[in-house]
Amino acid sequence: MFVQQAIAILDSGVGGLTVAKEVMRQLPREKIIYFGDTARAPYGPRTPEEVRLFTEQIVDYLLQYNPKMIVIACNTATAAALDYISAKVSVPVIGVIHPGARAAISATKTGHVGVIGTVGTIKSGAYTAALKQLSPFVEVESQACPELVPLVEHGLFRSPESFDVVRDSLDGIKQTTMDCLILGCTHYPFLMDTIQQVMGPGVKLISSADETAREISTILYDKGKLSNGEETPVHQFFCTGDAEMFQSIATEWLGEQIKRTAVVWQITKL
Ligand code: DGL
Repeated sequence: MFVQQAIAILDSGVGGLTVAKEVMRQLPREKIIYFGDTARAPYGPRTPEEVRLFTEQIVDYLLQYNPKMIVIACNTATAAALDYISAKVSVPVIGVIHPGARAAISATKTGHVGVIGTVGTIKSGAYTAALKQLSPFVEVESQACPELVPLVEHGLFRSPESFDVVRDSLDGIKQTTMDCLILGCTHYPFLMDTIQQVMGPGVKLISSADETAREISTILYDKGKLSNGEETPVHQFFCTGDAEMFQSIATEWLGEQIKRTAVVWQITKL
């Protein structure tokens, strides 16, 4: 029996669904195997060593499904583990930081870019390095926003209290000059409308999801690995924590039709 090779997408929790959604939109024939390490999220406050270990465990788990590529749809894990994982596995592995940086450089008109992310991502300096590698004279302002991921993981991204948390979290970076703000955590697009409201219409928000999906498409095309299957792919979702919460957030984010494409929801222990 022919088994369609999947694109494996991983995150500390539900954040990578923002990337998965864009992959589903741009590449509707591709099967996705998604892994959210919800029991151990957030990764942001953890050490790079711990995040690298967790990422390696997830990748080892996903390799049993023989994916055609691996997408580390988590900025914190990209900063801590992308090079390590890429050197270890034989399929293409990409992260979300370079795609996000590329999208910001192509969008900025003033050369002043803001970045918000987890403590781990901001501390790593990976965005500043990626942005300056592309455009050495770009001015970068960064800020960690540790309160935002828990809001999303608890399904509170549309709650009234989320506005106050977002406003307080962005207080510092809002005082600086920029025309683009990179959402340097894949959880943040869940809060896109609120972040836009707080930052005002003069700041363009950049999510790495579109650019990451484009990069996946280019890599698979170059390798002759794009799916040409006629049938709607059956995606698989795994999480390590509360499967009901995960499914409810995923359904809200991805839309009701995701339930009808015979999705498998499963709790997995690593
Ligand atoms: N979604 C992740 C990121 O892009 C991780 C958030 C977390 O677990 O702290 O960084």
